[in-house]
Amino acid sequence: MKSILNSGNLNGKRVLLRVDWNVPIKDGQVTDDFRIKQSLETIEYIRKQGAKLILISHLEPEEASLRPVFECAKRIIPELTFDDESDCTLLENLRKSPGEKANDQGFAESLASLADIYVNEAFSVSHREHASIVSVPKMLPSFAGIEFMKEIEGLKRFFNPEHPFLFILGGAKFETKLPLLQKFITLADAVFVGGALAHNFFKEQGHDVGASLVSSGDFHLKPMLDSGKIVLPEDMLVKSGDGIGVDFITDVGSTDVIVDAGPKTLETLKQKINDARLILWNGPLGLYERGFKTGTLELAKMLAESKKETVIGGADTLSATKELNNQDTFTFVSAAGGAMLDFLAHETLPGIEALN
Ligand code: 3PG
Repeated sequence: MKSILNSGNLNGKRVLLRVDWNVPIKDGQVTDDFRIKQSLETIEYIRKQGAKLILISHLEPEEASLRPVFECAKRIIPELTFDDESDCTLLENLRKSPGEKANDQGFAESLASLADIYVNEAFSVSHREHASIVSVPKMLPSFAGIEFMKEIEGLKRFFNPEHPFLFILGGAKFETKLPLLQKFITLADAVFVGGALAHNFFKEQGHDVGASLVSSGDFHLKPMLDSGKIVLPEDMLVKSGDGIGVDFITDVGSTDVIVDAGPKTLETLKQKINDARLILWNGPLGLYERGFKTGTLELAKMLAESKKETVIGGADTLSATKELNNQDTFTFVSAAGGAMLDFLAHETLPGIEALN
């Protein structure tokens, strides 16, 4: 895989730049432009070389227009136009064409026909076998963007981590996070499991998690518990008929819902952070998107103040650091969610293989 920095002279070339501008939008306005700003270095590099730039991105929901994203990006890149033939344009949402997700070869050819060179600056969607990620790069001379290379550098240290290494994994969907947990249980010195993922471990221990979110399926968690490396929340914020209170797992009733980590748990996490040299964090400690943010925000603060080597990623994790305005205090902030998890678990991604 070659970086765009080693692509030679781009003057007069047409460059198709795949970005991931799948950003949050509320009332027609972009609420977080982190991903747009992350692609700027590559955009400026290509523009300064005198190349024609054609930006392509997806946006969810797939029928949505990228126009609000364009309006936001135009404030940062004044020469940008929307979906026309200018020298610096953003095309409409790729996923409006069914061929993108279907990895249709005809659709990939139509994209490739627009340019002389392809650049992938969309690490965060490179776990998808979509036309613009895995097929277009096979049809054109292809390069990785500057941020794409930084993502790989920032994350690959975890394949051979410095110790003591603490891995903090929160959020839900055990089925997607299990491969990562299985891999890091051997690489890490301690693995803190928070959020809904912890509920499956509690069930494995024979506890009642009431009406709390759990992933369905048998994930064979006993060997992981037996490893002695898994650290689970000691107390949690629980919503019951009487309101919200702090409970131990043994107190959770059959209709109760665990919504966040409790104070003792956060104290333990602080200790574990102090003991570690390197920390990797992905996923919230509570039902973040439903407003139970305290544990996640506290953890973001503790890590930012720890002065340890800290690498973080995942949508809610990033949203917490944005709320605290402390993203600059981490060693590396990955813009990727699912792609970060897949890269860490498998050490490659379909989008990386396509560039190789
Ligand atoms: C993301 O937000 O994680 C990426 O843009 C990928 O989006 P997707 O999960 O809809 O493929």
